[in-house]
Amino acid sequence: MYSNDTLKGRTALITGGGTGIGLEIATTYARLGANVMLVGRNQERVEAAAKAIVDEGGKAAAFKVDVRSYEEVKAAVETTVERFGTLDILVNNAAGNFVCPTAELSPNGWRTVIDIDLNGTFHGCHAAYAYLKASPHGGSIISIITMLGVTGWPGSAHASAAKGGILSLSRTLAVEWGGDNIRVNTISPGPIGDTEGVQRMYIDAGNGDLEARKTALGRFGRKQDIANAAVFLASDLGGYVTGENLIVDGGRWLKYVAA
Ligand code: COA
Repeated sequence: MYSNDTLKGRTALITGGGTGIGLEIATTYARLGANVMLVGRNQERVEAAAKAIVDEGGKAAAFKVDVRSYEEVKAAVETTVERFGTLDILVNNAAGNFVCPTAELSPNGWRTVIDIDLNGTFHGCHAAYAYLKASPHGGSIISIITMLGVTGWPGSAHASAAKGGILSLSRTLAVEWGGDNIRVNTISPGPIGDTEGVQRMYIDAGNGDLEARKTALGRFGRKQDIANAAVFLASDLGGYVTGENLIVDGGRWLKYVAA
């Protein structure tokens, strides 16, 4: 859909890049000419994912990072620049979640998800800032959230609060860093059928059809739908878009509100 050089000469760091939506974004970016650094907690997984991209002709590398550690995120950013020369695009995709009623959620359970999702995103933005500012293309930060972070998410208060926090952080940075030619946006995916999260939380739990019917389009999305949105926001096609939350949810959020 996009031309092969849409992201030529740019370097992207994708957290949680070893699987799911993060890997789909990394693979799509590489196919469109970007160098990609995949980071994640599972070294074998990010290395295998990077190798698969290299095997199909892309430029990719991997680095083991737990986004809860600022030092590790900073090391990943620096390694990316050493390896590829610049850092132009940061995709904050790493996330953790589990369903648990709030009354039964331990303080450590709460802290764990806030730490991965919200603090991890702050770590990425902060560590990448100087390099994104130096990007000859203008920097682009894209964070993956969900509209459930806006509406509230019964059973996932920790993830909902973290995603709402990321939206707020992104809008703040869009204004603070706009003068540095860094664009800061979020993407809100709806239920993406070919991800482990939807498989585990909806399909395995026997609620697949019910969840699909909650969208206006009546079906799950695909990882590629999110990757396409992430290309738009990372490239010159989205060059005047900042502070935006691009909702790619098949109309789920609107149907929820309109019902
Ligand atoms: N229900 C209730 N509490 C849970 C829980 C669950 N299903 N899973 C973890 N917790 C709690 C733990 O009990 C612990 O709190 P405690 O010390 O008070 O007992 C705290 O959360 C940390 O758990 P731990 O397993 O040590 O954290 P971790 O850093 O190893 O992993 C996650 C955290 C979120 C990554 C892990 O829960 C997980 O693997 N989730 C599924 C995979 C996933 O999130 N994929 C991304 C999809 S968006």
